[in-house]
Amino acid sequence: MTMNLHETLWKIATDFNLDADELIRYADADEIGGYHTNPHFKKFECGAIWGVEGQIIYALVCALQPENILELGTLRGCSYAHMEAATIVNEGGVITTVDNAHNADFNMDAAEYLRTSDDTWDFVFEDTGHGVEITRDIWALAVQRLNPGGVIISHDAMHPTVGIEVRTGIERAGFSPKYYLTAPSDCGLAIWRKPLDTTVSTRKSVTKTPPRKTKSPATQLAAKRQAAVVKVAVDRISNKEGN
Ligand SMILES: C[S@@+](CC[C@H](N)C(=O)[O-])C[C@H]1O[C@@H](n2cnc3c(N)ncnc32)[C@H](O)[C@@H]1O
Repeated sequence: MTMNLHETLWKIATDFNLDADELIRYADADEIGGYHTNPHFKKFECGAIWGVEGQIIYALVCALQPENILELGTLRGCSYAHMEAATIVNEGGVITTVDNAHNADFNMDAAEYLRTSDDTWDFVFEDTGHGVEITRDIWALAVQRLNPGGVIISHDAMHPTVGIEVRTGIERAGFSPKYYLTAPSDCGLAIWRKPLDTTVSTRKSVTKTPPRKTKSPATQLAAKRQAAVVKVAVDRISNKEGN
């Protein structure tokens, strides 16, 4: 079932025991945008995630404050831009990007990266080849390196053509995630959260990790847009107070 952005966030909050108002507040503050079929609303070219999906991952990163974020499938830098903007709001969190063809921290196969990496993750966003096998391998490998309370998300899980492959891959890896399709996107997200281990604290924001120093052009643009939005809001408030 297709929902609007606020309905999706409300459903995500219910499914994962999060604060719906907080998720909605975060998402509404994210004006980075993304792919859109209407040229007037399109901020990133085809291949990028939709703006509403960017708002969802932005809101989740703001709410969950993951310390180590892994992005598999970077291409336009759109999903990266939303997650990085959230780490700026959080004042912490490091994003590692992997893409087998486009500019990323690691230019290699996503499953191969997960097989060889020693790192552990709090938030994994996957948007790669969308075949059954690659999706299955990514989920099966990522869960082994996912901290308690960590989240795995796959893009395109409800897509009219590749969605069935994404869902089959995830299910063959042994997962039953929640699926969300948010208008106007026809792509959709699969979201799964590893149960919290009550003996381990995953809220590691006490020691904040500084955001990375080198930013992609997409992120620089996103940061500029965010700064402009914040400035307009602050000016509006000061004008009101002055009156
Ligand atoms: C749909 S695009 C990603 C879009 C990106 N998330 C965004 O919002 O701009 C898919 C990307 O995954 C990469 N890719 C495809 N198969 C891959 C694999 N097996 N391992 C790593 N990257 C892969 C492609 O090179 C491509 O850049």
